[in-house]
Amino acid sequence: MTGSLEGKVALVTGAGSGLGRGSAISLAAAGAAVVCNDVAAKGLDETIAAIIGAGGRAVAAIGDVSRSADVKTLVAKAVDSFGGLDIVHANAGVERYESLETMADADIDTLLAVDLKGVLLCFREAIPALRSRGGGALIATSSVQATHSLPGCVVYAAAKARVIAAVRTLALEVGKDNIRVVSVSPGTIDTPMLSRDLADMNVADAEGFLQRVRDANALGRIGTPGEIGDVVVYLAGSSASYITGTDIVVDGGFTAVKRF
Ligand SMILES: NC(=O)c1ccc[n+]([C@@H]2O[C@H](COP(=O)([O-])OP(=O)(O)OC[C@H]3O[C@@H](n4cnc5c(N)ncnc54)[C@H](O)[C@@H]3O)[C@@H](O)[C@H]2O)c1
Repeated sequence: MTGSLEGKVALVTGAGSGLGRGSAISLAAAGAAVVCNDVAAKGLDETIAAIIGAGGRAVAAIGDVSRSADVKTLVAKAVDSFGGLDIVHANAGVERYESLETMADADIDTLLAVDLKGVLLCFREAIPALRSRGGGALIATSSVQATHSLPGCVVYAAAKARVIAAVRTLALEVGKDNIRVVSVSPGTIDTPMLSRDLADMNVADAEGFLQRVRDANALGRIGTPGEIGDVVVYLAGSSASYITGTDIVVDGGFTAVKRF
């Protein structure tokens, strides 16, 4: 397998489903060896099989990104399996569609632990490994909900907004080490999370609702995980060598239209 990321090693969290799987497959197709993480084995086999079936290199690494001991093992897995680490896509996330008024403490804690602390831990633990390779890229998955409000997503939006703030600030701390830090804010992407959101929202007419979602995008359609994966490959590679400390919106024009 040859590509723009030949010789690089990537860690993707939440790679057993949705955007993480799309990112892992895209990074591997570009030549990177990929450590594919998820909190449980379910889904990871399919991701690994897709990568290896296409001639790429990947290993599975189970762990909870909100636990620093687990995150340390993910970085160690990259070093042990492939000799180092150059790219992190801190993508694992959870969403709970519920108004703040009724949300339980435990659910607030979980959202912040996975969606915010999980990103911070992955970045923190990876920095020494990237520095020892002469630099690299730290990429987080944020969301358009960080900047565009949707009722029922208060805590999720707060976590995703803080990811963008952390990226901006961390870029200053590690830029001189040639480590770039970027977030990607997807709009609506067709993943299991979207299906669960629809179920949580309990909308009577799911197809009608989905059509409203499509109509809220300039392109008139929902995005695919591969369309995020392609952007991650670009941000991870040398073509993006002057991009750091910023958020890249990949939303089919959702934030431009803003009529949902
Ligand atoms: N799908 C969308 O429309 C959309 C839009 C904007 C942002 N996002 C973000 O994209 C990321 C991926 O979402 P998705 O749509 O692919 O969802 P998904 O539910 O399909 O995949 C998320 C994956 O993260 C894993 N995960 C959850 N908690 C974890 C933990 N503690 N440690 C390790 N892995 C864990 C899950 O097991 C799952 O495999 C999330 O951060 C999400 O907030 C999604």
